Amino acid sequence: MSSRIIPVADYRSLPSAPRIPASLEQPTGLLADSLARPLRDLRISVTDRCNFRCVYCMPKEVFDKDYAFLPHSALLSFEEITRVASLFVAHGVEKIRLTGGEPLLRKNLENLVAMLRALKTPDGRELDLTLTTNGSLLARKAQALKDAGLNRVTVSLDALDDAVFRRMNDVDFSVSDVLHGIEAAHRAGLGPVKVNMVVKGGMNDQEIVPMARHFKGSPTILRFIEYMDVGASNGWKMDEVIPSAEVVRRISEVMPLQPVDPNYSGETAARWRYADGGGEVGMISSVTQAFCHDCTRARLSTEGKLYTCLFATSGHDLRALLRAGHSDQEISSAVAQVWRARGDRYSELRTGSTEGLAQGPRKKVEMSYIGG
Ligand code: GTP
Ligand code: 5AD
Ligand code: SF4
Ligand code: SF4
Repeated sequence: MSSRIIPVADYRSLPSAPRIPASLEQPTGLLADSLARPLRDLRISVTDRCNFRCVYCMPKEVFDKDYAFLPHSALLSFEEITRVASLFVAHGVEKIRLTGGEPLLRKNLENLVAMLRALKTPDGRELDLTLTTNGSLLARKAQALKDAGLNRVTVSLDALDDAVFRRMNDVDFSVSDVLHGIEAAHRAGLGPVKVNMVVKGGMNDQEIVPMARHFKGSPTILRFIEYMDVGASNGWKMDEVIPSAEVVRRISEVMPLQPVDPNYSGETAARWRYADGGGEVGMISSVTQAFCHDCTRARLSTEGKLYTCLFATSGHDLRALLRAGHSDQEISSAVAQVWRARGDRYSELRTGSTEGLAQGPRKKVEMSYIGG
């Protein structure tokens, strides 16, 4: 028998359907939260499962064979996801990112891509439709995703050294398979491909310069991510965070970097380019330089809960509204009310040490459930 302790309050089962407001409204595309931040990005988690066990995200000790992943009936169907997405687009969303877990584990994902592709902004523009993947199934799926209308992909890769990468993903997956996935994405026209490397001090920080060197001069844009205290499972400690300033310093020692202006307001990554014209890299400094002040991101969990922050402890159950038969206008008005009340800025409020917070009193949701 398993000796696992089942948490008393599982964030996934707390009742949390938002109220339908008494007076309904028409979306204007101009919705803003209590800190005047518009709603521009929707990140949709299509599965809470993953074939990797990255130490910073789904550590094996927690996500083991007894872990209760969601049953299929709990997942939003593609029709439900598309309906919710269309309501968000009417409120101002212009970019949709499919995430997981590992999104390519969801069967026939390209069908969902095609359904989302058909959505248009209120003034008739196409959405930016993208996907975050660990790359393991990308070589097989890239062309079908492109054909269905996906614009681009972001691939996670934490090391070039095979032994280090295998230790990070903890399922013995090789670097060369991910690199093949990246090539397939380029060939299929899913560029610019971005590569995300989470830097965990003492684990893969010696890979910073080799990764930079490998992707320098290639069409792939490498981004370094500060290891974050997301979820309640990874045992995060501040002294395992390598600040982006240190990453820039280490790369600049061998390949000098210069700062570049952001592409758009609210961009997570600060851009740097090689002084010799070898392309650019990004620094995502969620710990040392929080970017909450212009955070325009909403997250839809695998089972249809709306989260207004990556570090939230509870979500707003839109699936309950969908399955209770509410109209589009009712659900849309409820979403507007949730967004207007939003005041989240967790990363800005983080003090130097949130190790205690990660353990409770209220558990933060896992990134594999809510989506990176
Ligand atoms: P682009 O569309 O390519 O600009 O994507 P993006 O910058 O939104 O980046 P991506 O989705 O690849 O996110 C990269 C990483 O940044 C994530 O895996 C997280 O580690 C971190 N991140 C993304 N969004 C947030 C956020 O809202 N809050 C915090 N704290 N971290 C975030
Ligand atoms: N810190 C920072 N980024 C994380 N991710 C997952 N867990 C963490 C964490 N603890 C992000 C990585 C990965 C994506 C799927 O989620 O960017 O590439
Ligand atoms: Fe899976 Fe991505 Fe989490 Fe790694 S970071 S366990 S690949 S969801
Ligand atoms: Fe947005 Fe929350 Fe991340 Fe801040 S911590 S950038 S509010 S998701």
